[in-house]
Amino acid sequence: MVDPLGVGLGLTLTVTVVILHFSQGTERPIPDDISQQVIEGRAATVRETEFPEPMNRAIGGGVSATAAAVPAGEAAVEGELDEVAVETEQDPAAIPDEEAETFEIEYLKEGETLAVAENQTILEAGEEAGWELPYACREGQCISCSGRVTDGGNSEEYLTHFTNGMLGDPELDDGYSLTCVAYPTSDLTIETGESP
Ligand code: FES
Repeated sequence: MVDPLGVGLGLTLTVTVVILHFSQGTERPIPDDISQQVIEGRAATVRETEFPEPMNRAIGGGVSATAAAVPAGEAAVEGELDEVAVETEQDPAAIPDEEAETFEIEYLKEGETLAVAENQTILEAGEEAGWELPYACREGQCISCSGRVTDGGNSEEYLTHFTNGMLGDPELDDGYSLTCVAYPTSDLTIETGESP
């Protein structure tokens, strides 16, 4: 015996399922791709550093450095190579020994005067003399090796810093120097182990 109520319910359910299956439903908007926006937003929160390449890239260095790390096209690659070439030219350590001028550096605390070539740092010359002078990074990015030129005025009147990520104009004006990246350009007197 067929139950008419059961058949009716079954038919109703079947029709409901068929209607739902073929109905279009509401359209769900697909969100825009915001991945680039998120990347740029995060890059903008990374503080710019003065670290030399490529360390600056490793840290992030903000949007501009990120863009620089992925140069677009050959022209950009050439530009980057030119930059490296300029940097090499400016590196006093690259001056051949036979061409390097020598200056008299008086190390006040050590009580000695050394002849230091313009392609040698003040730190290296002191170490070669057998002194244990302070240092850490040897890249101009900390302040461990700092010393003070006591001849008066800006330290860069007497030496050149190949890289200097730490000392600003006020410190340089007070005679401070990062001896690990400081190459003499004239005779000078220095007090090692002096920080601003
Ligand atoms: S040792 Fe770090 S700046 Fe010279």
